[in-house]
Amino acid sequence: MSKYIIKGGNKLKGEVSIQGSKNAALPILAAAVMNQSESIIENVPDIHDVDIMIKILKSIGCYVKKEGNTLTIDSSKITSVEVSEALVREMRSSIILLGALLSKYKETRFSYPGGCDIGLRPIDIHLKGLRKLGAQIEESHGFIHCKAAQLYGSNINLDFPSVGATENIMLAASLADGETIIRNAAKEPEIIDLQNFINAMGGKVTGAGTGMICIKGVTKLNPVKYRVTSDRIVAGTYIVASCITRGNIVLKNIAMDDMRTVCSKLTETGCGIVSYNSGEIQINPPEIIQPIESLITQPYPGFPTDMQAQVLALLTVADGMSIVNETIFESRYKHVPELIRMGAKIKIEGRIAIIQGVKRLMGAEVDSTDLRGGAALVMAGLCAEGDTTVNHIFHIDRGYEKLDYNLRNLGAIIQRQED
Ligand code: UD1
Repeated sequence: MSKYIIKGGNKLKGEVSIQGSKNAALPILAAAVMNQSESIIENVPDIHDVDIMIKILKSIGCYVKKEGNTLTIDSSKITSVEVSEALVREMRSSIILLGALLSKYKETRFSYPGGCDIGLRPIDIHLKGLRKLGAQIEESHGFIHCKAAQLYGSNINLDFPSVGATENIMLAASLADGETIIRNAAKEPEIIDLQNFINAMGGKVTGAGTGMICIKGVTKLNPVKYRVTSDRIVAGTYIVASCITRGNIVLKNIAMDDMRTVCSKLTETGCGIVSYNSGEIQINPPEIIQPIESLITQPYPGFPTDMQAQVLALLTVADGMSIVNETIFESRYKHVPELIRMGAKIKIEGRIAIIQGVKRLMGAEVDSTDLRGGAALVMAGLCAEGDTTVNHIFHIDRGYEKLDYNLRNLGAIIQRQED
């Protein structure tokens, strides 16, 4: 069990360069199976979820070379269209290969991804969309078997703008016969990155970033070189780290347009955010952290559920009462009991969290239970009095590249300990 040991109280200062986006990289790596040739993908974050995706790609016959943050994937000799149960269990988002494999090989077999630490996470919307494209899908004994002699373009209205379902349908429709329109599509920036990647391979996708995406099927996709966009959630996490320690930091390699909602919400705490054309932002923390009257997580361009835990940690030391409403995932408050162990005053009523700010948090031994919840505990530890031990940091490793190293460079006292 790896853990972080943090001595709180140091103000952060300095510069940090933001890694490539996890949620953009994963579907792009999956899409690399569709060109049956070489893909060179740059700015891929060096994180555990990417390592699992590499393992999956290798397990189906891809050649993958990792050099720093550049991956070279050769998908010309794929030998299997089945993703093993163990690998699906290791990473739920491997489900994104469903659309990619079905698109190119017209067949795929997956173990059914169960729920996870933050909620049930069904995939009914994904399957409904793929069926509309003509896939025959059998669900039995915990497995999903998808097959199609040919996929055909279709009109698909999503019941909810699911990110994963939008991506799976975009992938499957890219090599289908005819035109597909997805309505009520997810608008997340990572969907735009996937559109750009598919188009860089010779696909014909338009409309990503809006609620209506149009995919004209092509017969073949080509080799590609592509650079993944920057991670807006990791950037948001460092903004919280700066505010919660009252530190002044500069974030480099930011995709500012993707961060407007998070930045605008964080300015409600009194935090100053100055952005420069060069893709840099300067964080000027508030002297007194103001509470946030209402923070509601919503699909993009609403406030991202993936930033809820970190901002909630910040609000535990605000000067007053804040209200958070988590509308996306039903069990996404697992960090709250841990924050309470550190002296936070939080009440949960269903999907609402009521946070009464306290003067200071106290260091304690806490358990990370999911990726963003774990990051929230690190944020809390950075400002707490005394030592905080954050256990089970493999959750954090799933999405943050060198979190402890970067925080140390900014002046935090944080050590990683492997048991
Ligand atoms: C993606 C992100 C995740 C982020 C989430 C919401 C990746 C790898 N992960 O997850 O970090 O928190 O978007 O922004 O990109 N739902 C259904 N049926 C479905 C699909 C989804 O009911 O078929 C529900 C889910 O249970 C959840 C909500 O819709 O309550 C949002 O899920 P979705 O947008 O699909 O999230 P993911 O793609 O899983």
